[in-house]
Amino acid sequence: MIKIDNLYKSFGEDAHPLQGVSIEVAKSEFALIMGRSGCGKSTLLNCICGIEIADKGDIYINDKKINLANAKESNKIRKEDIGIIFQQYYLLTNTIVYNQIALICDASEDDIDEILKALEIYDLKNKRIEDCSGGQQQRVCIARALAKKPKILFADEPTANLDASLALVSVKLMRDIAKTLGSALLVITHDDRIVPYADTVFYLENGKIAKKETKEVS
Ligand SMILES: Nc1ncnc2c1ncn2[C@@H]1O[C@H](COP(=O)(O)OP(=O)(O)OP(=O)(O)O)[C@@H](O)[C@H]1O
Ligand SMILES: [Mg+2]
Repeated sequence: MIKIDNLYKSFGEDAHPLQGVSIEVAKSEFALIMGRSGCGKSTLLNCICGIEIADKGDIYINDKKINLANAKESNKIRKEDIGIIFQQYYLLTNTIVYNQIALICDASEDDIDEILKALEIYDLKNKRIEDCSGGQQQRVCIARALAKKPKILFADEPTANLDASLALVSVKLMRDIAKTLGSALLVITHDDRIVPYADTVFYLENGKIAKKETKEVS
């Protein structure tokens, strides 16, 4: 479903976060990318979703190469097939919770309500995003990405602002929806609490995947 082949990305002379990263995640697979702060996890995500341009290497989504040469097709794939939960949220200002989701996808109000309920933010449906707490905003991001029913779901530290119980609720919901849809789920995290739920863990270290673990899911 997604294949990253020998990806390189540097920033100037001093930062070389990606030095030949290769990753493959299959349909219905739940993969984690773990690694120390500053090791290049968000850079990798930014390259996949087109916010940064990699220096070298290839990204394939459903066997289609994503690059500048076919920018139009690449953007269509990104728009239609990929859901992203960003580390910095990127929610719409001055907009209520329900519209954060309804404005960007075709999900019905019933479907949106169901996801809001599952994430325990249904009572915030008509609240302005600025009036929600950090953890509430994080769950709106998760709801927004899930409502899109993407073929590939990326999440960058989706539980960073959630307590233990909400972190598990959120991760299980992401996993269950991804499995139901047959989507690939790729989560970047420091959060050891998520590890037992993933099928695969990639460890990013010194610009490369240092280790890959495949597990029995609990
Ligand atoms: N736009 C940029 N310009 C210059 N340097 C950058 C840029 N983006 C990232 N970096 C550098 O690249 C390295 C990797 O950053 P990145 O954000 O990918 O780390 P991360 O693994 O996501 O860390 P964290 O766990 O803290 O979120 C860091 O040293 C960072 O300072
Ligand atoms: Mg990061």
